[in-house]
Amino acid sequence: MKQRVVSGMRPTGRLHVGHYHGVLENWVRMQEDFDCFFFVADWHSLTTEYADTSGVRDNIREMVLDWVAFGLDPAKCVIFRQSLVPHHSELNLVLSMITPVSWLERCPTYKEMQDNLETKDLSTFGFLGYPVLMAADIILYKATRVPVGHDQLPHLEVTREITRRFNNLYGNVFPEPEALLTETPKLLGLDGRKMSKSYGNSIYLSDTAEETAKKIKSMMTDPARIRRADPGDPDICVAFNLHRIYVCREKLDEIVPACKNASIGCVECKRILSDCMNERLAPFRARRDDLARQPQFVEDILVEGSNRASLISDTVMAEVRAAIRF
Ligand code: TRP
Ligand code: SF4
Repeated sequence: MKQRVVSGMRPTGRLHVGHYHGVLENWVRMQEDFDCFFFVADWHSLTTEYADTSGVRDNIREMVLDWVAFGLDPAKCVIFRQSLVPHHSELNLVLSMITPVSWLERCPTYKEMQDNLETKDLSTFGFLGYPVLMAADIILYKATRVPVGHDQLPHLEVTREITRRFNNLYGNVFPEPEALLTETPKLLGLDGRKMSKSYGNSIYLSDTAEETAKKIKSMMTDPARIRRADPGDPDICVAFNLHRIYVCREKLDEIVPACKNASIGCVECKRILSDCMNERLAPFRARRDDLARQPQFVEDILVEGSNRASLISDTVMAEVRAAIRF
C-alpha cells in the first residue's frame, strides 16, 4: 500500500519559478510514489481575501494550468478544489468543537500574519481557525504524509494535536500525519529579495521567452561589481542563484572563473542564463498555451478530481459520525 499524501495551495494566481522549484516540482515527483491528493485551498484564501473575492476564480484557473502544464498528471494523482468537497467544511466544524482556542492563539503564524497584513482586518473567527480547517483537509483523507515548507510546520503541529485529541475522545479513527519537509532554499527575485508575487520581482512559469530575457537583463548581480573590469563573485551574485538551477555543469565551470577574473561581463553571463532558462521551460510553456486554449480544461479536471476525492471523504466522514455517535 502506498502512503497517502495530501497537500494544498492557496490560489494566488500564476506561479513563479520559486514556487516551481520549491513546491510543485516536489509534488510532481511524489505522484509517482505516493497516493497523492493535491487541492486548491480556496476556502483558505477566503480567510485573508474575504473583502475582495473578485480574483479567486481567475487565480484558480491560472494556478491549475501551471500545475498540469508543469507535470501534475490527473491520471497519477487526484487534483481537486476544496470547496467542491463539502466534507472539508463539515469536518472543520467537528474539529472546531474540540480545539482549544489557546492552541490557535499561540500558533506563531497567527500574530505574524496579522502584523504583516495590517491593511486587512484579520481579527476574524475564520482566520483564527485556519489551522483547524487545515487539519480537516489532511485527516479527511487519512493522509500519513504532508509535504509542506518550513512556514507551515506550526500548522501541522496543530493538526497532530487535534488528531490526537479526536482519537482520545472518540476512538482511533485517524493516523497522525507527519510532515514531509521540502527543504529547498528560497529563490531570490530580480531585486535580490526573496522571490514573491507581492514584491513584483518574480519570473513566472507562464512568462514568454522575451519577458524572461528582459527580466533577467534587469536582475541584480554582484553589487560590488560596478564596472566591467571589476572581478565578480558568483557566491554573492543574485542572478547566479538562478544559474545554479538552470545552467549546466560544464557552462557553470566556465562562468565561475570567468566572473572572478572579469573575463566575462554580466550582460553576456545573464544572456547565457536566460537562454538556458527559456530552453528548459519551453516545452512546459508550450503545453500551458495548449491547455489554456481549452476553455473547459481546468473546470473539468477540478470537477472530476473533486468527485474522486468525495468518494473517500464520504466514507471517512461516515466513520466520524459513527465515532461521535451521531
Ligand atoms: N496552509 C497552506 C498554505 O498556506 C495551504 C494548505 C491548506 C495546506 N490546507 C492544507 C497545505 C493542507 C497542506 C495540507 O500554503
Ligand atoms: Fe553574476 Fe555572472 Fe555577473 Fe558574475 S558575471 S556577477 S556570476 S552575472
